[in-house]
Amino acid sequence: MKTEQQECSCAMEQKIKEEFATRFGGEGTFYASAGRINLIGEHTDYNGGFVFPGAIDKVIEAEIRPNGTDRCRVYSVDINETAEFGLAEEDAPAQQWARYIFGVCREVIKRGFEVKGFDAVFAGNVPLGAGLSSSAALESCFAFAMNDLYNDNKIDKFELARIGQSTEHNYCGVNCGIMDQFASVFGKKDCLMRLDCRSMEFEYFPFKLDGYKLVLVDSRVKHELVDSPYNKRRQSCERVAAKLGIETLRDADMDDLDRIKDEISEEDYKRAEYVIGEKQRVLDVCDALERGDYATVGERMYQTHAGMSKLYEVSCEELDYLNDLAKECGVTGSRIMGGGFGGCTINLVKDDFYDPFVSVVIKKFHEKYGHDPKIYPVIISDGARRL
Ligand code: GLA
Repeated sequence: MKTEQQECSCAMEQKIKEEFATRFGGEGTFYASAGRINLIGEHTDYNGGFVFPGAIDKVIEAEIRPNGTDRCRVYSVDINETAEFGLAEEDAPAQQWARYIFGVCREVIKRGFEVKGFDAVFAGNVPLGAGLSSSAALESCFAFAMNDLYNDNKIDKFELARIGQSTEHNYCGVNCGIMDQFASVFGKKDCLMRLDCRSMEFEYFPFKLDGYKLVLVDSRVKHELVDSPYNKRRQSCERVAAKLGIETLRDADMDDLDRIKDEISEEDYKRAEYVIGEKQRVLDVCDALERGDYATVGERMYQTHAGMSKLYEVSCEELDYLNDLAKECGVTGSRIMGGGFGGCTINLVKDDFYDPFVSVVIKKFHEKYGHDPKIYPVIISDGARRL
């Protein structure tokens, strides 16, 4: 029997196939890449710290075929729009979604590798704006495909992740770290990965919860804040690191921070305080998981939430409410996940508490905000691949 997810993926593939045949005739090659969760280690990647992500069973899939020209024609099933663009810098498409693909092509070319014109149809089931990195999934899917179709897979996997990251920086205006693209490219079924974002060394951690489940609660709110608050957080961290004369906050502790307290703004102090705490929490969680000490894992998750809410200030009312509900329901650990400003909480729940938690959260959230949150059980899956 197929799981709901497999059914959904089959239907998606079928739809892509039909659209491809109708629009371009014949068929191409299928590629996929995944969204991600992150157990802990938020806003640490661009500070040279640790992250602990895994790819999930929510994917972007694309059917792609070289078309023998120097132009790309891409159809998005979900948005029902086509974009057509060339491969030179001045050919950037107007649609934001297409800039992710154009950016990937440009970043591959800038690195001295090849991309030629292609036709493509893609679709996805990574919820948008939920903090599950649909954009990294899209970037990794196309980066993987460009490597496979035109470059004999000569580009190594780290470079594929960097191609996605540079796309965000240079074509989408987000100065993100490497976590999302890394997770999307390197993801492996049933494994989380602890990545040291300074050395780029990483380890796969077989992820098996004994008597617990991980579940995402998607608030379905996305607060678009002016002035790119993500980039501002990053600038705060960089200012503090510069003041300390170090490259990143990876090399700072609370004593260092307190030494320069009077020389930095209160806001920058709070941002750095959060990051310094979060670095350690990732390591604590890895150790605790190895001991099967879920209580400590959960405690650290709540601490991360508090830090992201009060110090880093990337939470919002709805997510704080979801966190409170989790506490009320006896959930072991809960926190906002991803960049913030909306999206999901990630929750570590004892098997016995799972059903009551899910029903209470749906009911109470609905009563307060007038819509149901979405519930996604976490299934750790493979990252970028050819299907
Ligand atoms: C976004 C970014 C990542 C990371 C997270 C926060 O998802 O793309 O690089 O900084 O936010 O941990």
